Amino acid sequence: MTADARLLPVDSESTAALAASGLRYGLVDTTDRAAFAAWDQADSRGFHESRLSEATIDANFANLAYRRTTGVWDDTIPDAAVPVATVSTWVAELTVPGPAIVPAWAVSSVTVAATHRRRGIARALMEGELRTAAAAGVPLAILTASEATIYSRYGYAPATSVATLEVDRRRVAWVGPTPTGRVHFVQAASARSIVEEISARAVSRTPGEIDRWGGRFDQHFGLIAPDSDRGRSIRTARYDDAEGTPQGVVAFRLIEHEPDIVRLEVEHFTAATDDAYAGLWKFLVEHDLVTSIRARHRSIDEPLPLLLADRRAVRWSEVEDFLWVRVLDPIATLESRRYGAAGRLDLEVSDALGFASGRFRLDVAADGTASVTRAPSVPDAARDAGTDAAAADPATLTLTVNQLGAVFLGGIRPTVLAAAGLIAADSPETLALADRLFAAERTPHLSIVF
Ligand SMILES: CC(C)(COP(=O)(O)OP(=O)(O)OC[C@H]1O[C@@H](n2cnc3c(N)ncnc32)[C@H](O)[C@@H]1OP(=O)(O)O)[C@@H](O)C(=O)NCCC(=O)NCCS
Repeated sequence: MTADARLLPVDSESTAALAASGLRYGLVDTTDRAAFAAWDQADSRGFHESRLSEATIDANFANLAYRRTTGVWDDTIPDAAVPVATVSTWVAELTVPGPAIVPAWAVSSVTVAATHRRRGIARALMEGELRTAAAAGVPLAILTASEATIYSRYGYAPATSVATLEVDRRRVAWVGPTPTGRVHFVQAASARSIVEEISARAVSRTPGEIDRWGGRFDQHFGLIAPDSDRGRSIRTARYDDAEGTPQGVVAFRLIEHEPDIVRLEVEHFTAATDDAYAGLWKFLVEHDLVTSIRARHRSIDEPLPLLLADRRAVRWSEVEDFLWVRVLDPIATLESRRYGAAGRLDLEVSDALGFASGRFRLDVAADGTASVTRAPSVPDAARDAGTDAAAADPATLTLTVNQLGAVFLGGIRPTVLAAAGLIAADSPETLALADRLFAAERTPHLSIVF
């Protein structure tokens, strides 16, 4: 498997399909600032954002050059240097139950210009990137979606959810454990210098999280435009444990909506230990002069309400699908994680794009490790054994590649998908076994958009 996605050429099938419509598909040279700037502006326009400042382009140029940056150009338009479609991809490290790490083809910046929409450009790009990822040996692909209706057709399904959490400050009385360490206000640059190491530890203990890139921290900490209103409004603090080791970082802003209505908006929250989690939340929710505390993209299984005397001081909203998973290689994907129970399960997988079709036998040992083999399809097995198919086969789950991605991290129970008619099991016992097998040690959670 290649670690550097930038070195792979664009997919020949998609190149031919786009060329047939007079379009040119290619890679952006991410060492060429002018070419990168045109691509960056197209990406921003595609998401209906403002034109990017030179400072933001400089930051993106410095931070995102490691990504495979692709575009589609239409040489017949007046501003032909600006691509009419964009996608960027890279091989991220995804934490899976165990915990363990698996390489995942992260897809971002999917845009098609409003002048070129609905003529198959996004489909060509998505399918082209999936073929490139599969050929490179990357076991699965991941993304976060602007709309829930776009990506199922390419084999993705939501595997984790997030929520916005809002705390009514006036109802806060802390009853959680007393943190053993201390919180210190620090400058943003100081927080930035320690956050990567703490974040790596936090990410590696939570299924669904991916490794971070420097630009994302700079954004959270207001370091891209430090003199802007937003940059100056951000406060950063660090949590040190009882031994003085930094274990967590937060960045937040205080926003006065009207006199005496002040919201504390959490821009960044990283805690590598449960103690740091409690220490930082206690600090945030006990802020004087604050009416409410709001944090986006939090886990749907957040312990915070249990740390307050009045757990209804915490309100949840915007509960949404978040990390979407697309399995490309079921054997490598399924073998990468640990399982919640021992047992044998056959997965009969269908995949309209062909990458993951087949029958896969999952054998989980007592320690939760799995070995996965391709199994003969049911009719073949029954014919070879000369028996009735049901008797010849072990517990079998029949599902699309989408639903394989949905259950993979343990955030969606097979039983729930079966109730929705999205997967089928040969018996209720099989479904119960599937629930036990795919259970994760922590509720999967991705806490950043990408
Ligand atoms: C989403 C977007 C990239 C689609 O590009 P496009 O080139 O118009 O898409 P295509 O013509 O290749 O369409 C492919 C399929 O997706 C469907 N589709 C496209 N955009 C869709 C949308 N926003 N919602 C639902 N379905 C959509 C098409 O109907 C088509 O379906 P079919 O193949 O089953 O007939 C484009 O609308 C866009 O740039 N949107 C704004 C930015 C954005 O939200 N990007 C996604 C980031 S996660």
